[in-house]
This record gives sequence, structure tokens and C-alpha cells, in this order.
Amino acid sequence: MKEKLILDVDTGIDDAIGILLAVKSNAFDILGITTVNGNVSLDQATKNTCKILDLVKADYIPVIKGASTPLLRKPFFEHRIHGEDGLGGALKSEAITHPVSDGFAPDFLINSILSFSGEVTLVFTGPLTNLALAVKKCPQITNHVKEVIFMGGVVKGSGNVTPTAEFNTYVDPEAAKIVLHAGFPSITQVGLDVTRKALLTKNHLDLITDKILADYIATSTNDYQQKYFNRYGVHACAMHDPLAVGIALNKGIVETEKYFVDIETRSELCDGQLVCDFQNRLNKKANLYVSLKVDDQAFFQMFIDILNGHFLGKGVTS
Ligand code: BDR
Ligand code: CA
Repeated sequence: MKEKLILDVDTGIDDAIGILLAVKSNAFDILGITTVNGNVSLDQATKNTCKILDLVKADYIPVIKGASTPLLRKPFFEHRIHGEDGLGGALKSEAITHPVSDGFAPDFLINSILSFSGEVTLVFTGPLTNLALAVKKCPQITNHVKEVIFMGGVVKGSGNVTPTAEFNTYVDPEAAKIVLHAGFPSITQVGLDVTRKALLTKNHLDLITDKILADYIATSTNDYQQKYFNRYGVHACAMHDPLAVGIALNKGIVETEKYFVDIETRSELCDGQLVCDFQNRLNKKANLYVSLKVDDQAFFQMFIDILNGHFLGKGVTS
């Protein structure tokens, strides 16, 4: 039986590739894809999600809209990286046929988790607003989720929005705080410490045999790669969100350790910064599996296998 999955996305360039991996892996029973404001507005993230599902003809996957703003703060979009439309200009003129389902993402999360107790894996690749709203409304969901994986934060390196904060935790730190302290028995953080090492290059693109997917990924990541080149002198771009999906497919891709982790919400300079208590100075119970090392080669092997239709199955590396 396939594992039940809900993906929660603020569909920008890398979220879109994460969706492609989840769908094309054929490893999940995707109950739905929920959307949230983040890289782009809620409406744009929802349109982008529908466009991607159209691209892979996945008309059977429900798309449900969630929060249009962070819990307490104003939206903060990232058009500098993801372009005006959030997909780097790819699929710009495509008409959208995929429908948006009725309902509100936090309620969809609650109902799905309670209907399939212990069976649903949740992967978040945007700010954690929808999950925080779900936890606030129905705190007991934490005992019914199989596991939570989220892309967000950084525990050892520098941020990508401010010197200390990663984008997803910066946009809605209050939501991340609720999620971190909600008591999920298994919650894994996939942060910049590892996603910055999952760099997509032209060599990878050349290995994708499905022309539609290869063209789409090349077009959507073109400017993104150029920006990385301007900063680091290498043509590449980080697969932040696809790595979170990759970990749902194969845990062995990263090494994790469990620590007590909190987030700063009341600092002019450090809002959105994750604080990982590596030495247990605070003497608090560990609450988060933190990803510290990644096997980027194994990840990209799986990435290419999935897109080429050669994926051997969850937990299997070719
Ligand atoms: C995260 O921020 C967004 O721009 C990406 O989609 C990813 O989820 C990386 O910091
Ligand atoms: Ca994202």
C-alpha cells in the first residue's frame, strides 16, 4: 500500500520541482496539496501548483488553499529569486485546467490526519502557517500524524533572507514556534545546512530524458541559476524543497540528530533564526530531528531516476 502524503507548498521554483518528484515517484497516495502564501501570494502559489499538476496530468490530486497571510505578520514575497510569477517565467502562457477544491487547508489537514490516524506523512516546503493553524484548532492531531518533514531554518550556517534566518522560518516565525512546541513525535527539519549542498547543475539537467520535464526545469531554473552564479561563480541552484520530498522517499539521504530547537520571534536582527541547543544547555527535551549531513549524489541519482521513470521504490537507492 502506498504511503499517504499531504504536501504543503508556497509554489515557487523549487516547490514545483518537489511536487514533480512526489507525483512522478508514484510512491505516494497524495491525499492533497495544500497551498500557503510565501514565495508568492496564496493565489499565485495555488495557480502555480495547478499548472504543475496540469504539466504531469495529475488531475486526480486535490489542491486546497490555505492561509493568505502569516499568523501575525505581513506577507513577504520572494520575487527576486522566483520571478514575478514564482516559476521563473516557465509555463507563463499556459491555461490552467486543474480545479481548486473547496475548503481551507488547515481543516483539510485536520480531517485527513484524523481520518487516517497514524498513516499520513506531511511535507511542508513553505512557511508553516497552515500546520500552526491546524494545531491551534485541533492540538490532538500531533498524536495521529505519521511524521512531519519541513524545509526551513538553518542551525549552523547563515540565513538566506537575513544573516541568521532562512526564508520559510523568517516569513512566519510564530507559526514555526507553534509547530516546534506542538509535541509531534517525529518531526524532521531540512534546513539550509543540507539543502545548500543539493545543487542542481546542467549536468543533472542533461540526464533527464523526459523532454517536457527537462525543458520545464531548465526554463524555470534558468534565472535562479544565474543568480547563484552572480553570487558564487557557479551555475547551479539549490534544491531546497525537492530535498524535503526526497527525504520522505528515502530517509537514508540525510543524517539527522535530535535536539531541542526553538525559534527567535522577538528580535530586530534575528527573527526567524532557529536556535539549536547542541550542548543541551537549556536542559530541555529534544523536539526536532535536525538534518546535518546529506548524500547529495544519492539524492540526485534518485531525482533523475524518478523523473526518468526508473525509480525503484521508497527507501531504495539504485
Ligand atoms: C525556501 O525558501 C523558498 O524561497 C524556497 O521555495 C524554499 O522553500 C529556501 O529558503
Ligand atoms: Ca518553498
